Amino acid sequence: MNRNNIKNYLFTLLATLSTVALTNEAILVPDNILDVRSGKLIQAQIHIKDGLIKSIAKKIDSKADIEVINLKGITLVPGLMDAHVHLIGNNELNGYQSMSESSQMATLYGVKNAKSTLMAGFTTVRNVGAGEFADVALRDAIKRGIVEGPTMLVSGPTLSISGGHGDNNLMPYTSDIKTKKHNIVDSPWEGRKAVRLNRKYGANLIKFTATGGVMSKNTDVNARQFTYEEMQAMIDEAHSHGMKVAAHAHGLEGIRTAIKAGVDSVEHSSYIDEATVKLAIENGTYLSMDIYVSDYILGEGAKKGILEESLAKERVVGKLQRQNFKIAHSLGALMVFGTDAGIYDHGDNANQFKYMVKWGMSPLEAIQAATINTTDLFGLTNTGEIKENFAADIIGVKGNPLKDISILEDVVFVMKSGKVVKN
Ligand code: ARG
Repeated sequence: MNRNNIKNYLFTLLATLSTVALTNEAILVPDNILDVRSGKLIQAQIHIKDGLIKSIAKKIDSKADIEVINLKGITLVPGLMDAHVHLIGNNELNGYQSMSESSQMATLYGVKNAKSTLMAGFTTVRNVGAGEFADVALRDAIKRGIVEGPTMLVSGPTLSISGGHGDNNLMPYTSDIKTKKHNIVDSPWEGRKAVRLNRKYGANLIKFTATGGVMSKNTDVNARQFTYEEMQAMIDEAHSHGMKVAAHAHGLEGIRTAIKAGVDSVEHSSYIDEATVKLAIENGTYLSMDIYVSDYILGEGAKKGILEESLAKERVVGKLQRQNFKIAHSLGALMVFGTDAGIYDHGDNANQFKYMVKWGMSPLEAIQAATINTTDLFGLTNTGEIKENFAADIIGVKGNPLKDISILEDVVFVMKSGKVVKN
């Protein structure tokens, strides 16, 4: 071998070694894998390749060039999903303080929030409401690998009636009355137009507010917002583009009208009654009930600048929502894990699991709500389970979450799309 040959040889060797490191292959060796459909713990290893779960077996042949990741004492669970987050913005700003935050600054906070969410084991989230399509930018930056975060499904700006829960207007003649934004909708045709624009600018789904809210000034949680015709038009338009629709609704009439109009999920569902739970079941409508956030709002809200008006509404809504969560679950409602993280710190999403168990779910049902049920509601396939050919979105916890659901609050291993982001 002459000098040149040696040089070439070394070059090829180095090139080969670096491709090995980049093949995106790994073998996970945990104590257990949770099968979220059956609730069985399985003792097996997982072969990850090109972002997918290639195979699951008692023992995977470890070719010398594949990285083996030892996860002793760890149970692997599918990456968690949250159906209701607000990643955009500094969540320390409460009341109407966030109106002084620029969209650019809110987006930068979104980068931080996305990372905290992913590190807490949430590999997919639905972002339901963000101004100026900042959520679209964040989703795409994550997709391109520019910043770290969960897979995001985003709604763009929330659609609301004039003066409704999603109309961030404080005084007459200060904002939307003069410069009417496209997300303020007051007729079926304005609804269709707003859906068309949200879709055009990158939204995956549509969110509208079907009742007043807790956090908005001078709205009544029991008042329906939008007529049936308006809801039906927005939902029909969204569905015709293959988009799902989420309706914020606390009060019964708004919940019922949204379900009848064909909405895919009712967010909050606080005042739902038995007959309406049954209506939701008949229509295949998911309920996303954020039953942790109330303790945060009532515990921390006053210190954090949440308006007394909002605290007063929360004192009523929070209690009822939990009781109705229990009723909905006992009647067999379709339920997803949705938290409203953004009111409290991103990354604390998993705090809600123990509330879901306290209010009637088994630990397995609570985990299913954040994996297979969210997958169904989001319209996704081949994710939400640790199964061959499924996305390699996998998290690890110490011990058995079916025995103690709160261990999901302490996720020690996170793999997203086959890449380890936390170990
Ligand atoms: N974004 C919701 C609203 O303003 C938060 C409701 C929180 N309270 C609750 N009990 N889930 O209406």
